[in-house]
Amino acid sequence: MAIERTLSMIKPDAVAKNVIGEIYSRFEKAGLRIVAAKMQQLSVEQAAKFYEVHSERPFYQELIDFMTSGPVMIQVLEGENAIALNRELMGATFPKDAEAGSIRADFCDADGDQGENAVHGSDAAETAADEIPFFFSAEELCARLR
Ligand code: CMP
Repeated sequence: MAIERTLSMIKPDAVAKNVIGEIYSRFEKAGLRIVAAKMQQLSVEQAAKFYEVHSERPFYQELIDFMTSGPVMIQVLEGENAIALNRELMGATFPKDAEAGSIRADFCDADGDQGENAVHGSDAAETAADEIPFFFSAEELCARLR
């Protein structure tokens, strides 16, 4: 299996719940290494651009409002099969469908707004290749050599 990097974001709902550390612990226990991280308040322009692929969807404005409602924690995760592994740790997109033990099952309100799903993760290698440089320069990615 290949060593991959993936873009992960802890969304404003989970940051507000103060569970950044618990979510990081899930990544680390699964063998993923954090190679870059920062907290940021997204601007409307940044959120709109990041989710541009959804611009024709009816939930687009709601998504931008949500993603700019408070700071997000953004990180690059590295490890074997990191993209699929992170998606597995996150669980299904909507908290009500998320598998038991997944981040979304454990840190979201299943009866709440279905878009408020705690985390984002790149869904494919091509997406990761676009999403990582959206937030981090090459110099900000740290080699984990020990
Ligand atoms: P994410 O994995 O970040 O990718 C796109 C996001 O759009 C998704 O998580 C949800 O936060 C949001 N989203 C997707 N579908 C809907 C929907 N039907 N209603 C509201 N938000 C949605």
